[in-house]
Amino acid sequence: MNIALPSYRHVDEMRPWSDREHRLECVAVTPEAPDVMTFTFRPDRPGHFFRYLPGQFVTLELPVGPEPVMRTYTLSSSPSRPYTVAVTVKAQKDSIGTRWMFDHLKPGLQLKAIGPLGDFSYARHPGAKYLFVSAGSGITPMVSMTRDLSDRQPDSDIAFLHCARSPDDIIFRWELEAKAREMPNFTLGFIIEQLSHGQLWSGLKGRIDKAKIALLASDFLERTVFCCGPAPFMATVRESLAGAGFDMANYHEEAFQPVAPPPPVVVADHGGEAQATKVIFTMSGKEGLCEPGHTILQAARASGVRIGAACESGLCGTCKVMKLSGEVEMDHNGGILDDEIDEGYILACCSRPRGEVEIEA
Ligand code: FES
Repeated sequence: MNIALPSYRHVDEMRPWSDREHRLECVAVTPEAPDVMTFTFRPDRPGHFFRYLPGQFVTLELPVGPEPVMRTYTLSSSPSRPYTVAVTVKAQKDSIGTRWMFDHLKPGLQLKAIGPLGDFSYARHPGAKYLFVSAGSGITPMVSMTRDLSDRQPDSDIAFLHCARSPDDIIFRWELEAKAREMPNFTLGFIIEQLSHGQLWSGLKGRIDKAKIALLASDFLERTVFCCGPAPFMATVRESLAGAGFDMANYHEEAFQPVAPPPPVVVADHGGEAQATKVIFTMSGKEGLCEPGHTILQAARASGVRIGAACESGLCGTCKVMKLSGEVEMDHNGGILDDEIDEGYILACCSRPRGEVEIEA
């Protein structure tokens, strides 16, 4: 039997996976901790490698039912190893998308992906020394950056502080402990919230505070800080640092919990009735009215036009569409590049028409 073997290619003989939309093929599923899995993907087209920044995210289209859902996940892999990408996800009790991944996503299955995107990366905010602070699955961008720095600059000065519910819930524990042995300037600390009866733990316990940060990195005031975790956790870290006189220009954070979609903007009524505006969707051949203060995404849904969306707060870039004519007011949170705006793209979830507009959707 003749089996066609893939030919060996160097990375400079391959093309980057950097277009707006591609399909990813799952190649591995790895359990990491209770209810936490890593899904590894390769490009669906041979001869491509992944180009992204450590700490960036992708949006996956998950076929959970008749209508797919879009979910945004930080890449836990490192661009220094560009042949595959991986996301490491925790399934919450009520999660639809992540639960679908746990139950159905197996090697060989392909998903549509959008991205990579995001500004939460040491590559965008370089510093002489870093403090990575995370909780729960907020560890994923920190691991991506650590893996990347460990490959590119193994002498990087990193203090890595991670908070988990219990020792068993520490994701990537063994890999990080190995990094602490391999990298000469890598300091690692874990803070555990609770121990079960009889469980041994010699590390830090309780909640994060300034004293525990200083215990790991007494020079934390001189470090560039990256923080990721639940909102109350990040608020505590922010307040601890600010209270200690930290220069908050060197503080960067990433929320990994979905942000609530923005409410409609209240439009001032200067005497006359605020008018709904016409939105024409050219690809579907439909048109509808956008109520005052509503977004293009809301108008699309009301007209039966499908535009994929995940964060619905101008962050992930999933709802990027081409505006063919007309004016919009866009209030985004970094989910679109200036070049893309110049080309005519908008984010439908945070763009409100100023008069009639034509959208390629
Ligand atoms: S849905 Fe994320 S930017 Fe619009």
